[in-house]
Amino acid sequence: MKDQLDALRLEIERDVKAAKSLEDLEVIEVKYLGRKGELTSMLKGLANVTAEERPVLGALANQIKQDGLDLIAARREDLASSKYSALAETERVDVTEPGARPPEGHLHIMTHTIREITSIFEKIGFYRTRYPEIDWDWYAFEALNMPPEHPARDDWETFFMDAPISKKGKMVMTPHTSNGQIHELQRHNFPIRMIDIGKCYRRQVDATHTPMFHQFEGLFVDKGVNITHLRGILDYFAEQFFGPGRVSRIRPHHFRFTEPSFEVDISCGICGGTGIGADKKKCKVCKRGWLEIGGAGMVHPNVLKACGVDPKKYTGFAFGWGVERVAMMKEGAKVDDIRILYQNDVRFLKQF
Ligand code: DAH
Repeated sequence: MKDQLDALRLEIERDVKAAKSLEDLEVIEVKYLGRKGELTSMLKGLANVTAEERPVLGALANQIKQDGLDLIAARREDLASSKYSALAETERVDVTEPGARPPEGHLHIMTHTIREITSIFEKIGFYRTRYPEIDWDWYAFEALNMPPEHPARDDWETFFMDAPISKKGKMVMTPHTSNGQIHELQRHNFPIRMIDIGKCYRRQVDATHTPMFHQFEGLFVDKGVNITHLRGILDYFAEQFFGPGRVSRIRPHHFRFTEPSFEVDISCGICGGTGIGADKKKCKVCKRGWLEIGGAGMVHPNVLKACGVDPKKYTGFAFGWGVERVAMMKEGAKVDDIRILYQNDVRFLKQF
């Protein structure tokens, strides 16, 4: 029996040494030292040995068990640490390596455009103002020389507020930024060089209109301001915003709050204002060399008077254009449906 025990010890030692994983060790422990393992079944043979041999062999068996367990424990530690060092090799993390940047969004094309317009005008001494987007009728219409019953009012499809009517009329969601002219003029802080950019609201939704849109309103009032100043500013803006070589022109038009009034065009960036494309045919973008940008004019004396400004002393010009419109004109973007600007479709927005 002693020989058997010695042989078992050797077997255990050999197997433990050969074990390649923690799982192998598990199997070895159960096989040799477990409750139903080989050592246990060998110990049953103790019943057949002499009384002198029994304690000696018993002690030997216990020793083998203890040595076996120690051996397995030691090997287990070895295997575990080499498992982690292998992991450390393959899955090493370099904590000093710069992290992966999470995808970052960018500003909406309207925000970009508003900032750009602001900075273009700031360079020539204009300052940005913000006036109410919900205002009294008087500011939005009446002081702009558009009395309540005037048919021109029909052009402005206004949202009226469900609010008490005051001496200044109903409250409206401003259908244009021209109310800013009135607020600014009332401050009597000359020279006025305002660029007022804000949201406007009109009852219209279709491929070329959104019920909320943006306008930028310029107002320059001082002693001796005339149309040549307006022309200069228009050309300056054309070149700054749309690019070198772009110029403006004005055509007669009618607005209640300006006299004379104009429609402003910018020369087409594709055909250079000739109306003729590279293929010698009509320019596909503009058809006639010019793109319409919006209204302008010399501030009407009645508007100045309504704000307590003497039209004999002060003169000025104003213009009011759509931010969405100039942004699309600049990008040369053929947007079939302008509503996409406000639908938060990232595939569209990330182009700009
Ligand atoms: N307020 C006008 C509109 O919304 C645009 C406009 C035209 C503004 C002429 C002006 C101007 O300041 O002079 O259609």
